[in-house]
Amino acid sequence: MSQADAKNLLARPVIFLGPPGAGKGTQAKLVAKHYGVPHLSTGDMLRENVAVGTPLGALAKPIMERGDLVSDDLILRMVEERIARADCAPGFVFDGFPRTLAQAEALDGILKAQKSGPAAVIYFKVPEEILMRRLTGRRTCNVGGEIYNIYDRPPKVEGRCDVDGGELIQRPDDRPEAIRERLRAYHAQTKPLVDYYRAQGTLGEIDADASVPAVTGAVFAALQRLEKRL
Ligand code: AP5
Repeated sequence: MSQADAKNLLARPVIFLGPPGAGKGTQAKLVAKHYGVPHLSTGDMLRENVAVGTPLGALAKPIMERGDLVSDDLILRMVEERIARADCAPGFVFDGFPRTLAQAEALDGILKAQKSGPAAVIYFKVPEEILMRRLTGRRTCNVGGEIYNIYDRPPKVEGRCDVDGGELIQRPDDRPEAIRERLRAYHAQTKPLVDYYRAQGTLGEIDADASVPAVTGAVFAALQRLEKRL
């Protein structure tokens, strides 16, 4: 199925669920651009707060650097404020949210109140041994947020973004100790959401251990299958 066939089918919010380094951010940027809707990454929102030095950023910084999760209360306030903005009216793609059962239940309530129907959830499956290489090799543009990998998706000029020439930086939580903690938090608090959404019938599972274009195709195909079912 072509990506053009999938166009105009974003009838509901989309959630990208999966472990750190699964490729959620890489795909969310592409899919959100395709549909012309915002890409809502709670990780990016928190990093912006850290960069600007807001009180939320000051609270979140040490938690993120350790690899732990920021409290549900802070995340939910940030998300509710963001999705109330006008640009989210046609839909949005969540990347990295929800991440706990409490966040998922709160989101269900918000969507119900908005009468937008249940979200379509795409679960990115990647073997654990691949994740460490993806995360330690990740570099992100400090201007436009383009994502690279020094092993598998290197920029044309070392340290510089192909798109806007911005500097490529390594996230502080992409150190091996923090990655181990993020994986621990994922298994303890986020992985249970796979069963939660499976039980609701809103989960589409994809093999995300493939090339970026192959994963993009799998995401569109899964969205189309879900749309027929929901
Ligand atoms: P967040 O920023 O959400 O990080 P994450 O979930 O750990 O996910 P990542 O961004 O690390 O990975 P990704 O799946 O997006 O992979 P990417 O596309 O970049 O969260 C950071 C922190 O913020 C959390 O630890 C927590 O403290 C806090 N936080 C955020 N949201 C929260 C919430 N809801 N509740 C509480 N706390 C929250 O790709 C990774 C690498 O792989 C890149 O180098 C990329 O080029 C490469 N790659 C991607 N796809 C492929 C492919 N198909 N083949 C080969 N390489 C690939």
